[in-house]
Amino acid sequence: MTAHDYEASVLFKQNYSSGAHVVVNQGGTSSGKTYAIVQVLFCLAGEAENQVITVVGQDIPNLKAGALRDALSIYNKSARLKNLIKNYNKTDRIFEFHNGSVIEFKSYANPQDAKSGKRDYLFINEANGIEWNIYTELALRTKTRIFIDYNPNYEFWVHNNLIGKPGVELIISDHRHNPFLEQNIRDKIENIKDADTELWKVYARGITGKINGLIFNNWYICDDIPVDAKLIAAGLDFGFTNDETGCIEVYTQNGELWVDELLYETGLTNKDIANKLIEAGLNKNTEIIADSAEPKSIEELKRLGWHIKGAKKRSRQH
Ligand SMILES: Nc1ncnc2c1ncn2[C@@H]1O[C@H](COP(=O)(O)OP(=O)(O)O)[C@@H](O)[C@H]1O
Ligand SMILES: [Mg+2]
Repeated sequence: MTAHDYEASVLFKQNYSSGAHVVVNQGGTSSGKTYAIVQVLFCLAGEAENQVITVVGQDIPNLKAGALRDALSIYNKSARLKNLIKNYNKTDRIFEFHNGSVIEFKSYANPQDAKSGKRDYLFINEANGIEWNIYTELALRTKTRIFIDYNPNYEFWVHNNLIGKPGVELIISDHRHNPFLEQNIRDKIENIKDADTELWKVYARGITGKINGLIFNNWYICDDIPVDAKLIAAGLDFGFTNDETGCIEVYTQNGELWVDELLYETGLTNKDIANKLIEAGLNKNTEIIADSAEPKSIEELKRLGWHIKGAKKRSRQH
């Protein structure tokens, strides 16, 4: 496996050729950070025997939606890579190479848990979801190189403890560095500017923001809503061309909120929305709290028999 086997972005080249001990990839959304780093890891595993590579996410669902998803898509696209890999163990999430190298995808519950095992390379995916104490235990047991990626919503341990120190390289990227992205996704990222320049700086330019608290970070993806969770209401946000129409059911259980995504799609008329909600199993008696910017749409859905009203809007404070 070499760099030439991939369609690679400039981020791949920078990460692949870095000689730093810690390579920090700060960036906007969809700049190709995770994809590039995973490509580099596949190269490193294929090039040398018996390499141990650990990819860490805050939990398994986040890994499945992040680094592991990218890894499987790279693996499935590359016949060359398939020849080098003996087996992908789905249960333990380990790629086993014929040359003895392995790439494992893991999450750690606490610093003690992170003391197990040693490795040659470490990749911390979406590092703002990982505690500093877990990072240090993993970093201590990493011989050659550490890759880190994240969206810089706010300053955290990478900024306070790593960037600027010897042996740490910082690469900042945004969607303009990713040649593989569709135009509509680019437009959407740039359009954030109309709504919120602080968010735009973070997500479109990869500049460290101060949006801690405005965006929830303390959430996890799960397989099921607990059976004893109580449904509060549904939330509906209208979009059309550039933005998706989104609808979620919100439950509470055990003092926590549980959210089920029913719908997230562009190009839907109000009739389409009604049909999709029926398909998704939303009960017409469930109260829907909708984006109050579209009173006409709300009225139309009401006339189609939905129990819907506009949300009371609060403006966001910076
Ligand atoms: N080298 C590549 N080849 C093909 N598609 C790519 C490549 N790099 C990125 N992409 C596409 O761009 C999307 C966003 O990249 P990703 O690495 O997930 O962004 P980030 O981690 O910076 O948010 C990926 O899901 C993939 O579809
Ligand atoms: Mg990513």
